[in-house]
Amino acid sequence: MNKYIGIDLGTSAVKLLLVGSDGGIFNETQEEYPVFYPKGGWSEQNPEDWINAIVRGMKTLLVGTDPSEVKGISFGGQMHGLVALGRSDEVVRPAILWNDGRTAEETAYLNDAVGRDKLSAFTANIAFAGFTAPKILWMKKHEPENFARIAKIMLPKDYVAYMLSGVHCTDYSDASGTLLLDVKNGKWSDEMCGICGVKKEWLPELYPSHAVVGTLKPEVAKRLGLSPSVKVIAGAGDNAAAAVGTGTVGDGACNISLGTSGTIFVSSGSFGVDKANALHSFRHADGGFHLMGCILSAASCNKWWVEDILRSDHGVEQKDMSALLGKNDVYFLPYMMGERSPHNDVDARSMFVGMRPDSTRSGMGLAVMEGVTYALRDCLEVAKSNGVKVGRTRICGGGARSELWRTVVANVFGIPVDTVCTEKGPSYGAALLAMVGCGEYASVAEACDACVSLRSAVLPDEKLVKAYEKGYNVYRSLYPAMKDVFKLMKNMG
Ligand code: XUL
Repeated sequence: MNKYIGIDLGTSAVKLLLVGSDGGIFNETQEEYPVFYPKGGWSEQNPEDWINAIVRGMKTLLVGTDPSEVKGISFGGQMHGLVALGRSDEVVRPAILWNDGRTAEETAYLNDAVGRDKLSAFTANIAFAGFTAPKILWMKKHEPENFARIAKIMLPKDYVAYMLSGVHCTDYSDASGTLLLDVKNGKWSDEMCGICGVKKEWLPELYPSHAVVGTLKPEVAKRLGLSPSVKVIAGAGDNAAAAVGTGTVGDGACNISLGTSGTIFVSSGSFGVDKANALHSFRHADGGFHLMGCILSAASCNKWWVEDILRSDHGVEQKDMSALLGKNDVYFLPYMMGERSPHNDVDARSMFVGMRPDSTRSGMGLAVMEGVTYALRDCLEVAKSNGVKVGRTRICGGGARSELWRTVVANVFGIPVDTVCTEKGPSYGAALLAMVGCGEYASVAEACDACVSLRSAVLPDEKLVKAYEKGYNVYRSLYPAMKDVFKLMKNMG
């Protein structure tokens, strides 16, 4: 059987998935790499670490497989990261990641001096600190010697595609998050390139997500243990790839991802912009568009709570937490890296609120899940204010493996939450894109129809929905109350 490799280039690890042409999963593996936080709110990675991790992972992935059966490889990648290469293809500086908050000044310059209206007209979006364009401006101002060396810029997954195939490419979904793409018309924006000092020749060529961009370079094929005839398919930003992986394509379908970041992704057949620009208006990997809210810390908050603070998951009794559903009076703000949607505030911080002497670890643990979910509800409210109707949603990502968390989502959102049988996040979507590129299916929608099926649904419970409505009302008043305090905290250094 023909087989396809989907690579999810995540923030904490790269996940590799081997999928048959019928959508069945043969093997999967993951390899971790470090994130560097050189200053508070900054986050960076070494692009070379991504490649080394993929080479290591491929050995495990291919055990028991005849490599000649592998026909295509594609990617879902962490979005917005700035990878800059010099004239000899050397990495100019570590990649600045999607959750890096160093660009407050550049973001304010773009939104206030250039102006939100202009940005929205040029790109369908405004500037957020994590987007690529403010990072380029930051580099220009703070690292002029590095800026002068730039010969190519690309997004994280595009660096991998470049190293594998030698083709400097990107796809429309991921390019949407650079703030350099005219999303509506699907071309690089001359205006934005001018504003950011970007030379057109630095930019990758744009492809649909399922397009074949080339084949493996012979020396790379040898390193990976694959044939040089393996096709390299452009791939997508990780949220669009995850949406493909859960069958969230076409008009009006919704997917929630609880990964390092949390996103609510509403797929659309037609172009549309959030009137407040709090949600991103991006292209989808199925050829359409989507509106997306992204919170910077989601399952990562739970990981921090369990691994760094409790230092054990024995302290987190699922049944004790379940008993508190709808009754918890401890609240958690998940702004560990500042916040993107909808607040666009790099200075926002995380906090627990409401503890009393009888508050427990379970209450605080549940508050973490609830706080992340309320933050996503903030994004849903913006979508609703644009007339977007979300009647049910699919869910994916590490946090979605917890039935308790899925229950919280179903009740905070008041809608059924579906899981799919092959829930593997962006890597599964990437494998489907590779299949479409290699001709197994005629379109992304057809691949989803053939390969993605629903496993189970968590339904909302009327009483819990009411209780969480009250909880959300408390939650939504916390950020406005704390906003100025967060600024004070910043000024304390
Ligand atoms: C989306 C975003 C994150 C990253 C995570 O806009 O910044 O979801 O893509 O990898």
